[in-house]
Amino acid sequence: MFDNLKIIHYPDPRLKQPSAPVAEFNENLRQLVARMFELMRQAKGVGLAAPQVAQNIRLFILNATGQPEDDRVYVNPFLSEAEGDEEAEEGCLSIPGLSVNVSRSKHLRIQAHDLQGNPIDQKASGYLARIWQHEFDHLNGTLLTDRMGPVAKLANRRLLRELEEKYASEHPASPPKKPPLKDKRAKSR
Ligand code: NI
Repeated sequence: MFDNLKIIHYPDPRLKQPSAPVAEFNENLRQLVARMFELMRQAKGVGLAAPQVAQNIRLFILNATGQPEDDRVYVNPFLSEAEGDEEAEEGCLSIPGLSVNVSRSKHLRIQAHDLQGNPIDQKASGYLARIWQHEFDHLNGTLLTDRMGPVAKLANRRLLRELEEKYASEHPASPPKKPPLKDKRAKSR
């Protein structure tokens, strides 16, 4: 059923949409998650959020070690008790080739549900907390491009431009809309 799912790439507008809570823990959801793990492994990623496979629901998966027993599923996650700040390099399966420094909370608590609907309540620091924050961002339509400072934006201008052109060539029916001239004039006043 989810065989045709694939990871969508920047600047696909579906990546910018906030996702809706998961209402039912059913077979559908289990199949979606199984397919997401497949895609994450193929792409050699450590985390993948449902909106990255064009499913706008609040769910992400991760595997921080690459060991099968470390597969984790977080449904309807809630982050709290953020403490400290730490900067480190991040990439994103939806923005191939991008690698930028992002500041994240060092310590964090996550409350969520697992695939069976059982409550999860965990705390983590460092790498795992970083993955939680990155994937959680996806559920709110926030991408690494939104976390980049002006220097990183400039440094990665060409890469992002190339991704934009690739997307435009693959989606000729939906060219990016330019604001009408009227709006532009109103703004400059
Ligand atoms: Ni990502």
